[in-house]
Amino acid sequence: MIKVSNLFKSYKVKKKQHSVLDDISFEVGAGQVYGIIGRSGAGKSTLIKCLNLLEVPDSGSIMIDGVDITKISAKELRKERQQIGVIFQHFNLLSSKTIFENIALPLVLQSNYSKEEIKEQVNKMLQLVGLQDFANKYPASLSGGQKQRVGIARALITKPKLLLSDEATSALDPQTTASILELLLEINQKLGITIVLITHELEVVRKICDKVAVIDSGKIIEEGDSAAILLHPKEALTRKLVIEEGFELYLENVKDFYSFEKSSERHIILLSFIGENTYQPVLSNISKATDCHFSILRGELDRIKNTPFGQLLIEFQGSESALATAKNILKEMNVHYEIIY
Ligand SMILES: Nc1ncnc2c1ncn2[C@@H]1O[C@H](COP(=O)(O)OP(=O)(O)O)[C@@H](O)[C@H]1O
Ligand SMILES: [Mg+2]
Repeated sequence: MIKVSNLFKSYKVKKKQHSVLDDISFEVGAGQVYGIIGRSGAGKSTLIKCLNLLEVPDSGSIMIDGVDITKISAKELRKERQQIGVIFQHFNLLSSKTIFENIALPLVLQSNYSKEEIKEQVNKMLQLVGLQDFANKYPASLSGGQKQRVGIARALITKPKLLLSDEATSALDPQTTASILELLLEINQKLGITIVLITHELEVVRKICDKVAVIDSGKIIEEGDSAAILLHPKEALTRKLVIEEGFELYLENVKDFYSFEKSSERHIILLSFIGENTYQPVLSNISKATDCHFSILRGELDRIKNTPFGQLLIEFQGSESALATAKNILKEMNVHYEIIY
């Protein structure tokens, strides 16, 4: 649905050109939820603004359903933008207008809808976001989560096929975040709307993103299925972003109960199982094939979006040849492993 190719963008600051997006290319399939993560200042907001040409790239193309929006006329762009809804971290509601009027605004601005049509559409949106009883209230009397629901209703009233979100849940507490994520997922699944979102919250990626791109200094440094990126990131920066608690810290915390000394016959290994192989009897296969021993130090079984995964931190005791056999079995069974020590 979206195909971004070789996007460049720079800003002139004090007569010097600063590169902000540096040869960005990626694709988002129709109906996907695509997350963009990265440190502050990496270029995330600039990138998402380029997707509806709020920022104009210096070069590169942005194809949305086969139309390169960097090459079309102002009139065509206005039409194209109606296909793209946007939600923001701080909601951007008009405080002097009621909830009804805020949601109606995009249709009122288009000025080709009757009052009745607008009323019908707004009521549908109020229903969708669960704010039927709030039509005549003003933003100031709403909680953060309710304000974001209004933001979502306003973004969807033009029936877009694409929703862009820049940190839409960052100003919300964890419980409210969870309910907004559920709403976004419902919108994605029921209405088939493609979502591109920026976030610094892992919870957002875990719950709703199918794919994720990591951006740093204006470049995509890593990209792929959320489960793969979260469970075995390749780049050092991605590891920092997605692995909240280092293993060193973990082993340090449990050292009163468990101490580990490095040797050629003892290793600490992290196993990651994704999808179907989450439920495979991997450890028993290895111990049948070799004379090694395991202790399980830590384990997790959960889901990333719709993908089940498991992660096990184990201590392996055995000879080098047992370790080689174990590695082969892991490879055969498609289990990702990382020998930490
Ligand atoms: N309008 C602008 N003029 C000059 N520099 C800008 C402008 N907008 C963003 N930048 C710079 O571009 C870089 C990326 O900004 P941004 O896209 O907001 O990053 P992020 O959203 O990842 O924090 C930053 O160094 C920022 O200072
Ligand atoms: Mg930003």
